[in-house]
Amino acid sequence: MKTQAAILWETNTPWSVEEIELDAPRNGEVLVKIAASGMCHSDEHLVTGDVPFALPIIGGHEGAGVVEEVGPGVTWLQPGDHVVFGFIPSCGRCASCSTGHQNLCDLGAQLGVGRQISDGTARHHARGEDLGLMCLLGTFARHTVVHEASCIKIEKDIPLSRACLLGCGVVTGWGSAVYAADTQPGDTIVVVGVGGIGANAIQGAKLAGAKRVIAIDPLENKREKAMEFGATHTFPSMTEAVQGIADLTWGTMANKVIMTMGAGDGSVLSEALALTAKRGRVVVTNIHPASEMTASMNMFDLTLMEKQVVGSLFGSGNPRYDIPKLIGLYREGQIDLDNLVTKEYTLEQVNEGYDDMRSGKNIRGVMIYD
Ligand SMILES: NC(=O)c1ccc[n+]([C@@H]2O[C@H](COP(=O)([O-])OP(=O)(O)OC[C@H]3O[C@@H](n4cnc5c(N)ncnc54)[C@H](O)[C@@H]3O)[C@@H](O)[C@H]2O)c1
Ligand SMILES: [Zn+2]
Ligand SMILES: [Zn+2]
Repeated sequence: MKTQAAILWETNTPWSVEEIELDAPRNGEVLVKIAASGMCHSDEHLVTGDVPFALPIIGGHEGAGVVEEVGPGVTWLQPGDHVVFGFIPSCGRCASCSTGHQNLCDLGAQLGVGRQISDGTARHHARGEDLGLMCLLGTFARHTVVHEASCIKIEKDIPLSRACLLGCGVVTGWGSAVYAADTQPGDTIVVVGVGGIGANAIQGAKLAGAKRVIAIDPLENKREKAMEFGATHTFPSMTEAVQGIADLTWGTMANKVIMTMGAGDGSVLSEALALTAKRGRVVVTNIHPASEMTASMNMFDLTLMEKQVVGSLFGSGNPRYDIPKLIGLYREGQIDLDNLVTKEYTLEQVNEGYDDMRSGKNIRGVMIYD
């Protein structure tokens, strides 16, 4: 069939919205009519080359839609089902999946190649070339074919324009605070960077019982939004936060610091560690350029204060467990998905949406397809 998608042909060029040829689903695959896609900063890393996935590639990894057709062997999904895509597939069988770490499923190894999990070939084509798929999904498109391992079935009453955010931003941010930071009641938590990920880290820290949630972002509109999501204090930079956090905590500093800036930067890690208490933890959720090999850290401080630095992928959560769980929290009004969406765009407005993300206008932009 023919459909439309936003393709990145070369780094540092705009997304090109054009017609593509989409093959029918094969073994274990599903054709989905995508309803909505969030515009996460991770797709921007494809554009800058910080994440060097194979090009050309259809962007987008935060999507939800309706199943149109299932390929041979898919028994648990049928046309009409609503699905959210997990940006890491989960096979349910590998060592990571079977020990409760679906975010580290061995199938994730396919991400950089962007071809179908089932047989390593492409279903998406344009200008006579095979196209890769961001996170094996390619949600900047009206339709896609993905492996069933990327699909999580959800109830039909949840608006897909909000459900899409659970495919990455909400679980990643919330889980960074709840699982990776292991926020405890009474903790002081710092969140550095208030975009789609940071806003959800704030929500997670609050729900886990943090006494103070301190949000840091250079932009005033982001600091205001942070307070709406549950922050108790804000600062424009880590440097400006040092004294304030020392005053607030009687000099003991923050139990956990969660890094959710647009692009990670190894040179600022020493500042993050300086905000961290004895036995405290820095959670690195933001993505650093793949080529970056150094980070500044006072190792003396690290050892003598028993500080920790940990990475976190997909909020260290389990997509098949956490996506339905967070939908339940949304139903009960315990997490806010509606306020995350600053502006809605059409597929044709993908570059405008990313301009707005770069200039810091959006918590999240979401593309809505008809
Ligand atoms: N680990 C994962 O599983 C995972 C998943 C999704 C996204 N990410 C990454 O998380 C990061 C955040 O993504 P997003 O979509 O929320 O981005 P975003 O662009 O929406 O928000 C980033 C925010 O960081 C702020 N910021 C920039 N520099 C800062 C600084 N020096 N100090 C404080 N704040 C600063 C910006 O003003 C902006 O508000 C990206 O690197 C993204 O690739 C990681
Ligand atoms: Zn993302
Ligand atoms: Zn697995």
